[in-house]
Amino acid sequence: MTPPVTPAATDLAAAFTERYGDEPAGVWAAPGRVNLIGEHTDYNEGFVLPFAIDHSTRVAAALRTDRTVRVASTFSGAGEVTVNLDELQPGSVTGWAAYPVGVLWALEQAGHRLPGLDLLIDSSVPVGAGLSSSAAIECAVAVAANELAGTGLSAPELALVGQRAENEMVGAPTGVMDQSASLLGRSGHAVFLDCRSLKAQLVPLPLADAGLTLLVIDTRVSHSHSTGGYADRRASCERGAELMGVSSLRELRVADLAEAAGTLDEETFRRVRHVVTENARVEDMVGILAAKGPGAIGALLDASHASMRDDFEISCPELDLAVDSARSNGALGARMTGGGFGGAAIALTPHDDVERVIAAVEEAFAAAGYAAPAIFAVLPADGAGRLA
Ligand code: GLA
Repeated sequence: MTPPVTPAATDLAAAFTERYGDEPAGVWAAPGRVNLIGEHTDYNEGFVLPFAIDHSTRVAAALRTDRTVRVASTFSGAGEVTVNLDELQPGSVTGWAAYPVGVLWALEQAGHRLPGLDLLIDSSVPVGAGLSSSAAIECAVAVAANELAGTGLSAPELALVGQRAENEMVGAPTGVMDQSASLLGRSGHAVFLDCRSLKAQLVPLPLADAGLTLLVIDTRVSHSHSTGGYADRRASCERGAELMGVSSLRELRVADLAEAAGTLDEETFRRVRHVVTENARVEDMVGILAAKGPGAIGALLDASHASMRDDFEISCPELDLAVDSARSNGALGARMTGGGFGGAAIALTPHDDVERVIAAVEEAFAAAGYAAPAIFAVLPADGAGRLA
């Protein structure tokens, strides 16, 4: 149940000094996220309700006097990537370094001239699990550079910088949810974000007080949003909005679905129905959390999963098995979280049923011949900030 442990900020600072010869100016951290509900709604200008988790990426950083950027990590072997800020352009850096370097590029594109930087990154956010390890890297580098270079951007502005890095430097057409959760999260709270206005509201999520554990079930089925399904779903949503004569699917309500059924082809209609009903579920969940607390949200989690499985078609057999076996062994509700096509599911589980759910999911995976899942608890944690 224990996620990977990483060196603390002081260890990272020491590793930085050993690598680059000088002490870092500071150490910053940004968490991964779990999305409680609101999937594939962000790029449709809709609602999301993610929270920052207690697994984060750290970056030790120092300014340089030239325009060189050196970036290394504890998870990518001994090598370091060296680039010049004047030569950066989409495609010029590939692999994991495109995330940190992309943030610096996006800051410059937004009109901020930066000095060079030395960066050393380490992370306890499982990679490829759908917990936004990439947004955690982007946001850690964004807060570090913002402070060191004095660019003075707000958290919502930094979220857009991270999104731009991912869209243009990495080439994944993702929305702004992950970066917003990583930057705006607060311990014990979820972030209710309107992705049209970018207005965010913290929503109390007192899991422990309610006797609940939020389990993450990482199926270990890897996914990438730079290719294939994610972009395809986004294109379907844009086509649906255009055919319905609206600027985004956010403009449609559940009552408009009857008209959509008559206007759209069958597949596009199901894609649109997912987004429209998912937006309604996010709003419902915010109301239920306020009125009744987290013990009452199970049915909405289940409905969200069914919509992603059947209408949006972004689940996979491993995610469905994780959700079904958690549900039938005590979880109050479960759903896949994140972009889909692999990654993780979440299962809202009473404390007393945690061991039973874990054992049941592990047994179901073994019986199906799937690789063993990684199952661990997460808590809503604070967003990005300076550690040292
Ligand atoms: C990925 C993207 C987000 C969002 C989710 C799906 O995590 O990075 O912007 O679109 O998928 O909700």
